Amino acid sequence: MAKVVILSGAGISAESGISTFRDSEGLWEHYDIKDICTAGCLETNRETTIEFYDKRRLDLADKEPNRAHRVIARLKAKYKDDIAIITQNVDDLFEKAGIAHEDIVHLHGYLTKVECEKCGLVYDIGYKKTQDSFNGKCPTCASGKIRPFIVMFGEAAPMYAKINQEIDDCELLVVIGTSGNVIAVDILSSYVDRTILNNLEPSITINDELYTKVLYKKATEAIDEIASEIEIFLEKR
Ligand code: NAD
Ligand code: APR
Ligand code: ZN
Repeated sequence: MAKVVILSGAGISAESGISTFRDSEGLWEHYDIKDICTAGCLETNRETTIEFYDKRRLDLADKEPNRAHRVIARLKAKYKDDIAIITQNVDDLFEKAGIAHEDIVHLHGYLTKVECEKCGLVYDIGYKKTQDSFNGKCPTCASGKIRPFIVMFGEAAPMYAKINQEIDDCELLVVIGTSGNVIAVDILSSYVDRTILNNLEPSITINDELYTKVLYKKATEAIDEIASEIEIFLEKR
């Protein structure tokens, strides 16, 4: 199990041009979560929901990882299993920065993948539109409808169990770019000796007094200080 856990949210991808959810101009200012991101939306609002995720998927094609993703990729390559990468993000920027997909815990799914509602097959369609791939039909069972491989509000999030596993053994928790609206980062930080919080500004759902170090600045500006804390910590063990 990892000694360092890096838990990220939409903020780490903001400087790569991907909207966050709750910042001004965030996604939730332009869409109603209940229409396109709540359990049942694929029954009541299928077309718009698939369009919403296809648009986010196609937007990914020209998005590049920023310095924060790249520094974390360098640390992961150097310290391997001593660092766990957990993200709420459904983008592929950590992968584009060079981290193997299987080395990243995507808590809320992954935009370039789709899932068959009938047989559960999950496969990657890259930046193609869902409907263009097998005409929205599963290539295996041929009868199931395919849906974005995204965890909607109110749906089970099976990868959450990984959070508890990794926190058990964690001695340094780094939280980057999340408002804490969904993942209770304060609870996680209460189990860990040393914790670093990096956001742009305070969040009403995070009590920053609980953190050993708080950096209210862009992730690309905070990442060097975060990286040296991680290296000092891992080198002295
Ligand atoms: P939630 O906070 O209620 O948690 C989702 C599920 O995970 C629930 O079943 C909850 O019991 C479980 N869970 C939460 N914390 C856990 C932990 N520490 N350990 C184990 N299990 C845990 O979230 P929600 O409001 O029901 O929304 C469901 C999920 O859908 C959320 O994670 C939300 O962020 C996600 N979502 C994704 C997008 C997207 O675009 N990717 C958009 C909206 C919502
Ligand atoms: N550098 C660091 N932090 C940033 C930056 C940046 N350049 N830009 C924004 N932030 C911070 C903001 O301060 C805010 O705290 O990122 C956070 C973004 O918060 P949200 O928009 O709420 O995104 P997130 O916390 O990832 O949302 C959690 O909710 O809607 C669901 O599933 C969705 O995964 C998402 C989850
Ligand atoms: Zn199928």
